[in-house]
Amino acid sequence: ATTRTFSIIKPDATRRNLTGAVTAKLEEAGLRVVASKRIRMTKEQAEGFYAVHKERPFFNDLVSFMISGPVVVQVLEGEDAVAANRKIMGATNPAQADEGTIRKAFAESIEANSVHGSDSAENAEIEIAYFFKPEEIVG
Ligand code: CMP
Repeated sequence: ATTRTFSIIKPDATRRNLTGAVTAKLEEAGLRVVASKRIRMTKEQAEGFYAVHKERPFFNDLVSFMISGPVVVQVLEGEDAVAANRKIMGATNPAQADEGTIRKAFAESIEANSVHGSDSAENAEIEIAYFFKPEEIVG
């Protein structure tokens, strides 16, 4: 079925002017950008977004990284969008990412890994609502 997922182009990618290159890979994978905005996340926004990782040793570094530069938050639509997006992103650790994936092509490290994508349909809904009003999404 046609579904939606949530994506972030992270500061390491916007810094290197890779917004278009990352988006092209998403589009080539059959995903359609139905909402997009470039923002600077606040510390509070980043902490709230990553609240599930609060107890992890990398949490503070992750939050600092995510507010270190602009990000592009996007809603992607497509056939089985969560899975399609996770496939084109590749593994969290770029050293383990498959050839042809966004992280294999662009990621600098496990932290500066160029993109975020929702890990389930349930989280996609929560994450989309965290950044977008319904009227900002144009399918
Ligand atoms: P993301 O999909 O945005 O969700 C949590 C992020 O934490 C993850 O991508 C990585 O960028 C970041 N991260 C940093 N260090 C680690 C780590 N050791 N294990 C997993 N994720 C990490």
